[in-house]
Amino acid sequence: MAKQLNWEPGTTYKDWLLLPGRIKSGVGPDDVDLRSPITRYSSPQKTELDVNDLPEDVFVLNVPLLSAPMQSVTGADMSIELAKTGGLGVIYCSQPVGDEARMVAEVKRYKAGFVTPDVFSPKTPIPVIARHTHEKGYSTFPITHNGKPDGRLLGLITRKDFSEQKHANLTAGDRMVPLKDLVAPEESKIGGDLGKANDILEDSHHGAMPIVDRQGHLKYMVFRKDIEHHRKNPLELVDKNKRYKVGAAINTKDYRRRVPALIDAGADILFVDSSQGFSDYQAETMRYIRRNFPEIPFIGGNVVTEEGFYFLVENGAWGVKIGMGPGSICTTREKFRMGRAQATAVIKINEARMEYLQKEGIYVPIIPDGGIVTNDDIWVAGALGGDAGMAGRFFARFEESPTERIELKKVRDGRTYTADMKPYWGEGSERAKRWRKKRYDQSDESEGIEGWAQYAGDLNDPKGMPRVINSIRTALHKGGYASMQDLHRNAVLERESESSRAEGRPHDVGGPEEWSNYTVW
Ligand code: IMP
Repeated sequence: MAKQLNWEPGTTYKDWLLLPGRIKSGVGPDDVDLRSPITRYSSPQKTELDVNDLPEDVFVLNVPLLSAPMQSVTGADMSIELAKTGGLGVIYCSQPVGDEARMVAEVKRYKAGFVTPDVFSPKTPIPVIARHTHEKGYSTFPITHNGKPDGRLLGLITRKDFSEQKHANLTAGDRMVPLKDLVAPEESKIGGDLGKANDILEDSHHGAMPIVDRQGHLKYMVFRKDIEHHRKNPLELVDKNKRYKVGAAINTKDYRRRVPALIDAGADILFVDSSQGFSDYQAETMRYIRRNFPEIPFIGGNVVTEEGFYFLVENGAWGVKIGMGPGSICTTREKFRMGRAQATAVIKINEARMEYLQKEGIYVPIIPDGGIVTNDDIWVAGALGGDAGMAGRFFARFEESPTERIELKKVRDGRTYTADMKPYWGEGSERAKRWRKKRYDQSDESEGIEGWAQYAGDLNDPKGMPRVINSIRTALHKGGYASMQDLHRNAVLERESESSRAEGRPHDVGGPEEWSNYTVW
């Protein structure tokens, strides 16, 4: 006989409905504060603190969303674009240590507004630059004497300075705009102040401007479009040097090599990546980090039980990630008949977290991971206690995920339909594990599948993250909640029945064909 039988079935986000609270006059959706901590803090008064009252060293997201450490979700591009919106990218660890460290370093090379660009030497043939332009989508490159990012600046070449056919036999040096015709101020004149850089850039009539040190070596580039973006996006998630923040995943096998390399590359926070984090291996990994790198925040996970939560917290986790089996590409629950419905996992772990706060005076943030399908799941996860949500498929759909967009054709009723898709696969799928099998000789059991997610354009397009953020704010405002903390404290939720769900959707009206494909957004 089992130790315990839970007769109440588990619930998912879609089983819960928020009841509206009172909207206070004079407070609009734009006033809703989405900042949320993801690392622990002490609270002698044993309550969850308002985000303005948090100690300085707490890791706070400006928007409570993280992209999952998966090969098909989070590389450097996704991390940079997500940090621009106030969320956090977590780079995947199912790749060699050096490759993951390079991705982290690529994010950290970006200082909000100050970019360390790709650079060429004057000898670089024009076709090489043209190819780079096509592959990367960049069109402005500084030319330095040795082709290195810290070489002596000689000029600038842009897409407009050459013709691919006519200048195919020439080099960058032949076609660049030489330094004497550029505006390239010295770093000491700007002192890291984007406003000052912008003043000079605006007067220069150029779209981009190199910044050099006293010896004329290249330091950064400043792009007008980045400055404009920066002005419009006060939520950018940056460190004290104005570089974008980035998370990095680690596993419980090669952490002795991986952790130092990632910290060296500039990772701001580490995530122990495991589908079953209630394990002695995870405890060992966390002990290693605490002993050797006491300053680096790290999140443990994944767990779905109260015991699992306590285990991770008592072994030093600064935050805890929740989820076993809710992922869109996940077969863990079906295959191993193990896991927990996600909403119930969050509810139970939230109870354990509040109990821990009462006992120890320490608030440990919890991060529900997986199963975020539509925007509404984000605030339901928050109402159930989640401090921030992690998602894979949700972000895999955007241009900045590492995969190539593909066109999918479907024939239905003799008509051909096409749709733009992005490949998306689980970290436990055969495809993701291939690199690992060679290294760790892992078992053949897969617990994920390979599929597609519908392409959703650029993350920072107004229809991308800005719209997601706006919908979170609108929902919180509609419910009468001024912040994520207010949502935690005051949300009232009710179980929803099948018939209530049907009632809550368009029903019993004729209409355009799209009703049958009605989606929430
Ligand atoms: P999604 O947001 O529903 O797509 O779920 C993403 C989450 O699923 C990730 O953050 C992981 O926690 C989890 N996950 C990733 N790969 C796999 C897998 O192959 N099997 C099971 N779970 C996975």
